[in-house]
Formats: sequence, structure tokens, C-alpha cells
Amino acid sequence: MLPDDPIGIFDSGVGGLTIMRQVVDVLPHENIIYFADTARCPYGNKSPEIVTQYVLENASFLLSKKIKLLIIACFTAASHAFDILQKRLPIPVIGVVENSLKNVTSKRIAILATTGTIQSGVIQSLILKKEPSTVLFPVACPLFTPLIEEGLIDHPATRLIVAHTLEALKNKGIDTALLACTHYPLIRPLIQDCLGPSVQLIEPSRNCAIEARDWLASKNLLNLQKKKPTHTFYTSGESEKFRHLTNLLLGIEKNRNAC
Ligand code: DGL
Repeated sequence: MLPDDPIGIFDSGVGGLTIMRQVVDVLPHENIIYFADTARCPYGNKSPEIVTQYVLENASFLLSKKIKLLIIACFTAASHAFDILQKRLPIPVIGVVENSLKNVTSKRIAILATTGTIQSGVIQSLILKKEPSTVLFPVACPLFTPLIEEGLIDHPATRLIVAHTLEALKNKGIDTALLACTHYPLIRPLIQDCLGPSVQLIEPSRNCAIEARDWLASKNLLNLQKKKPTHTFYTSGESEKFRHLTNLLLGIEKNRNAC
């Protein structure tokens, strides 16, 4: 394993770019390979067995690119398959679940996630293990990811669906909402408008990037190159649509090698 080797990141679609942009910010010299499994997105309505199979396939694709570290930038994937991946892979794996809980201090927390993540119960049990008196309000938001993948980021239809989905949280007295799907920070303003300014929104991207930096530093694997790093994108779906969407969401144009 060499410092020049890339970091691998995957998600079912564009959601993992919310993690990638923090990785780029914290580790600006690292080469990165991002894989979006757009052809099989969303993961949130699929069984744990199917998602685990997808996760193993995605990891093996990225391993074939000689990555030195893998970030699972997808809560659904991590909820179903983090442990199995950690056991099977010869490289370290960083997940979003634990990293999303590092800053949680509240006692009345809404968990916004895919149906699969909510049904897995993984986040609920980790929070309750840490603080048994926490009151949790899990809300499955199955329509958010498809709308985001269509690029309807600030669209009246998305606003309507957000309001309808989060209706269940009205008058519940929550002070924190965990954005437990990497797609949701992309519609953060809509969620914030709906829940009100007093509700704190939490997501794991910065903590994931910091964990990656700390691990690389501890193994002397930080890339100290002076030249521009390469950021390479792959999708299992339609490449033009993915390219358009990543540009729209992140303004990423530089160093695109493959898509
Ligand atoms: N971005 C994903 C997550 O964090 C997946 C959304 C989906 O594919 O349903 O859960």
C-alpha cells in the first residue's frame, strides 16, 4: 500500500458526494475514486441480503483499483453490511453510522433515513446503548432519494414531499434531526425550513473525513504530493446524467478521468 494509492468511496448514487466534498476539504492532496451504483439505486427499498450483495460487489470493484482505504458513504449499505465488509476486506473501512453519532447529545432525536436503514434498527440501538433515556422518532423518507437523483433539489414537488413526510414530527418537541442518509444534506435547506430553525441537523461527513485523515496519518499513508490529485468517478448507470448531476450538485469538473 502506498500514499499515492487512492481512497475509495461508494454510494448508491450521488449522496456520497456529500462525504466526498468533506474528504476533499480535509485531505486536498488525496487521489479519490468515487463509485455511484446509480443503476441499482435506491438501496433503501431493497432487502438486507440484496444490499449486502451490492456492497460486496462495489467493494471488490474499488479494490481492483488498488484503493488504500474504503469509505462506505451510504447509511443503508453500512447498516446492512458494515460488519461483513470490515471482516472480509484487507483494507480499513470507514462507515457513516458511528461517525454520525459522535456529535449527538440531544435527548429527543428524529432519525431521517431510508426504509431499510430504519428497519435495520442499527442506529436506534447504538443511540440507546450510549444513552438509554433518549427518545427517538425514526422517520422513513423513501421518496427523498429518487427526487434528489432526478436533480429536483429545490423544487416545489420536493418541498411538498418533505413537508408531507416530516408531518409526523410536528409537535414532538425534537431538538435534533439526524440526516441518516447521505443524500439528505443535499436538500438540507428544505428539511430545515420544514422542521424550523431551532432544530439542529446532524450529518457525518466531516467526522468521516477526519477519521480517514487520522488513520492515514497513523500509518504514514497521507499523500503529500504537490501535483493536483486525481478525482475519478464511475457509475453503473447513465454516465451523462451522473456527470450533469455531480456538476449541478458540487460544481465538480476538474480532474474527471472516467465516468
Ligand atoms: N445514500 C444512501 C444512504 O445513505 C442511500 C439512499 C438509497 O439508495 O435509498 O442511505
